[in-house]
Amino acid sequence: MSTLRKFATAAAAGYAGIVVTRAIVRRKRTFDWQNKRVVITGGSRGLGLVIARQLADQGARIAITARTEEDLCAAAAELRRRGAEVIAHPCDVRDREQVATFIDRVTNQFDGIDVLLNVAGIITVGPFESMTMEDFQSAMQTNCWGALHVAMEVLPHMRAAGWGRIVNIASLGGKRAVPHMLPYAASKFALVGLSNGMRAELKADNIFVTTACPSLMRTGSPRNAIFKGQHRDEYAWFSIGDSLPGLSMNAEAAAEQILTACQHGRGEVFIRSPLNVTIALQNLFPELTQEILALAASVLPKMGGIGRTAAKGHQSQSEWSPSVLTTLTEQAAIRNNQI
Ligand SMILES: NC(=O)c1ccc[n+]([C@@H]2O[C@H](COP(=O)([O-])OP(=O)(O)OC[C@H]3O[C@@H](n4cnc5c(N)ncnc54)[C@H](OP(=O)(O)O)[C@@H]3O)[C@@H](O)[C@H]2O)c1
Repeated sequence: MSTLRKFATAAAAGYAGIVVTRAIVRRKRTFDWQNKRVVITGGSRGLGLVIARQLADQGARIAITARTEEDLCAAAAELRRRGAEVIAHPCDVRDREQVATFIDRVTNQFDGIDVLLNVAGIITVGPFESMTMEDFQSAMQTNCWGALHVAMEVLPHMRAAGWGRIVNIASLGGKRAVPHMLPYAASKFALVGLSNGMRAELKADNIFVTTACPSLMRTGSPRNAIFKGQHRDEYAWFSIGDSLPGLSMNAEAAAEQILTACQHGRGEVFIRSPLNVTIALQNLFPELTQEILALAASVLPKMGGIGRTAAKGHQSQSEWSPSVLTTLTEQAAIRNNQI
C-alpha cells in the first residue's frame, strides 16, 4: 500500500471513530421532554412561542415570561389548548428581583426546573450615529445580563438536583458584527462569551449549556423591533431581508434544531443556514470580511429621518414594507403573536 493510501485509510478510520464516538456521547446525554419542567424567557411571541408550542406537543411543563402581560396571556391560552401545564408570569429579565420572584413561583409550583431557555432579546436597527448609550445599556441588560440573571436564579435548583440544561439564544450577529446593529452585536458577542464560559464550568455539575447562534429566522419580529435614523428605509431593508427564503429560515425548523441541540447537550451550535458560510469566510479572511462589511455599511441608509428617536417596526412602514417582498415575514407575525 502506498504511503498516501495508508494515510488516507488512517484519516478515514480516525474520522469514522470521531463520528461514532460523538453519536454515542449524544445518545447517552439525550433525554425526552415528557414532564420536563422548562422555563422559557421571551415565550410570549416569536421564537420563544414557537419553541414553547413544540415543547407543549411533547409533554413538557412550561413556564413563560415576557414584559407584556396581554401577549403572555394569549400565548399561555394557546399552549393550554395544546394540553400543556403553563405558568405565565410577567417579568422584565433586566430586573434581578423580578427574575427571582418569577423563578420562586416556578420552583414552588413545579418543584424544580430541568431546562432553562434564554430566548428574550431586543434589537435596535440604525446607524451608529443614531445609537445612544441607553440603546447599548438596554441591549446589554436584556440580551446578556437578562440571560445571566435567570441562569443565576435557576442554577441552585439544578445543582441541587444534579442535572440541568441551559440554552442561550445568541445569534450569528454574536460571531460577526453586522452594520447598523451595534448594540445588538455588542450584547450578543458578550452573551456568546458568557455562555461558552458557563458551559466549561458547569459541565462538572452535570449541567450542559448550549449556545445557539441562529442567523435570520422568520419569527415575525421586525414589527416589534426598534428602528432609528431613516427608520422607514431601515425597516424596509431589515424586513425584506427577514422575509427572503434562502437568506432567512423558517422559525419552526430553527426551533426544532435548537431543541435537538439541547437534548444532545451540545455546546456552540449554528442553526443550518447558507449565511453560516460568512463565519468560515471571516475566520479565513478577516480583513477582507471587514472590507465587505464596510462596503455594506456604505450602502445602508445614512443618518437623518427621526435621528436618535426610536420607532417600532409597525410605526415605520412604507411602500416597500409591508409589500409582496415581506409576505413571509407578515405571515410569521400573524402566526407568532406579533400583532
Ligand atoms: N429573529 C431572528 O432572525 C433572530 C436571529 C438570531 C437570533 N435571534 C434571537 O432570538 C431571540 C428571539 O427572537 P425573536 O425574533 O423571536 O424576537 P421577538 O419576536 O421580538 O421576541 C422577543 C421576546 O423577548 C421578550 N422580551 C424582550 N425584552 C424582554 C425583557 N426585558 N424581559 C422579558 N422579556 C423580554 C419579548 O416580550 P416583551 O417585549 O413583551 O417583553 C418577546 O417575548 C432573541 O434573543 C433574538 O436576538 C433572532
